[in-house]
Amino acid sequence: MTGERHVPVLFKEVMDFLRVSPGGTYVDCTVGLGGHAEGILRRLGPGGRLIGFDRDSDALALAKARLDRVVAERGNEAPGVTLIGEAFSSIRHYVQPASVDGLMADLGVSSLQLDEARRGFSFQAEGPLDMRMDTRSGPTAEQVVNEVSERELADLIYEFGEERRSRTVARAIVRGRPITTTEQLARIVVSVVPPMKGHRIHPATRTFQALRIYVNRELDEIRALFEAAPQLLKPSARLAVISFHSLEDRIAKDSLREGAARGVWKILTKKPVSAGEEELGENPRSRSAKLRAAEKTGAGN
Ligand SMILES: C[S@@+](CC[C@H](N)C(=O)[O-])C[C@H]1O[C@@H](n2cnc3c(N)ncnc32)[C@H](O)[C@@H]1O
Repeated sequence: MTGERHVPVLFKEVMDFLRVSPGGTYVDCTVGLGGHAEGILRRLGPGGRLIGFDRDSDALALAKARLDRVVAERGNEAPGVTLIGEAFSSIRHYVQPASVDGLMADLGVSSLQLDEARRGFSFQAEGPLDMRMDTRSGPTAEQVVNEVSERELADLIYEFGEERRSRTVARAIVRGRPITTTEQLARIVVSVVPPMKGHRIHPATRTFQALRIYVNRELDEIRALFEAAPQLLKPSARLAVISFHSLEDRIAKDSLREGAARGVWKILTKKPVSAGEEELGENPRSRSAKLRAAEKTGAGN
């Protein structure tokens, strides 16, 4: 694991948009390793509360240790912390309507998930084809590549990976069954998708992205979050969402625009904010990050 990949992306920008007030209630929907969550916690006072979600129990355990240290340092002055090991689409079950002063999400996978070969997210490390963020349930990527029909595979690789050669990839996958490891799948994809001239991205990137999004129902999760957020936020409360690929960003952009048209949101980022030169130099993961922020208006939902 490389240290710099654990630096939270667009940290200062997210904190600036959230404008944490010491006594407020803030939700981090994707606690991960706790970088942004710690930033929020350190800005809160004794009356404040941080609520954090992550459906990856390994990440949440590490984040808990990190946040517990901050709470211990603060003694009697510590804000409250509640961590919830569930998908953020279930937020309505845990968070009261009109109770939140700021909400953030830093979407996608964490460096912990990418770096741990056994989680099966990366084609750069030999591991089982798993890719589940929540390992308690749901099909693994292995089940998907081995059990889904060729047609369905092609569709999902096209829709969630934006892979133009999705039919060719799906055919190669079906021919290559049974497929059990990340390397085996990467090899199959590379055998039919040549590297694009002048592009640095690995030919298997889009297929892996598609499987990950499908396995974790990532786009449905984001839609559910944007649907729930207006009811949970107080008037003038803020929302900050970081996305890492165009499918996520499109949902964020469209949801905020639709909400703004209905008078629910005031959009604070006409264009998404991306990482500056310095951050790009220090943290390669920030390269594709896009931050959108909005403020809840006083109007209804
Ligand atoms: C990019 S990381 C967050 C990193 C974090 N901001 C930090 O500073 O360390 C994304 C995290 O969100 C979690 N996650 C992604 N989608 C989720 C969902 N729908 N519900 C709950 N957690 C989710 C992943 O398990 C992962 O740990």
